[in-house]
Amino acid sequence: MNIYQRLKDDHGKHRGLCAALLKTEGHSEERERLFAALKGDVEAHVAAEEQVFYSELMAHEKGQDQAQHSVAEHKEAHDLIEELSDMDMSSPAWLQKFKTLKEELEHHENEEEEEVFPLMRKIISEARAKEMVAEFDQVKDKA
Ligand SMILES: [Fe+2]
Ligand SMILES: [Fe+2]
Repeated sequence: MNIYQRLKDDHGKHRGLCAALLKTEGHSEERERLFAALKGDVEAHVAAEEQVFYSELMAHEKGQDQAQHSVAEHKEAHDLIEELSDMDMSSPAWLQKFKTLKEELEHHENEEEEEVFPLMRKIISEARAKEMVAEFDQVKDKA
């Protein structure tokens, strides 16, 4: 296991939760449960990703632009999640905004896998990528 696979596993979980959420209707218990699960996991994932993964990418000149770009997208996702949390889940506007979150999240996580990970592989060793898993899990569990 290395940090790339560990992050991909979370991304897969987010995709699954988003797909399941799209199939829910109105303010159902199911929608509430799935959204709480998505919110909790995305927020903890992002916190640990920034603290463990992006801080290290940011420390290298080659990685700064990409790290800043990703952190800005984290903020956008966070803001959308907060807006959704404050909205009436049964309104059509909720589902509309949720679709925006789903698209942004997918775009962001695909970009991490396709662009950020290859860049990080040039910056840190495979040994470091393996070591990072435990640090990531520790921070994520606390978040
Ligand atoms: Fe991210
Ligand atoms: Fe991520």
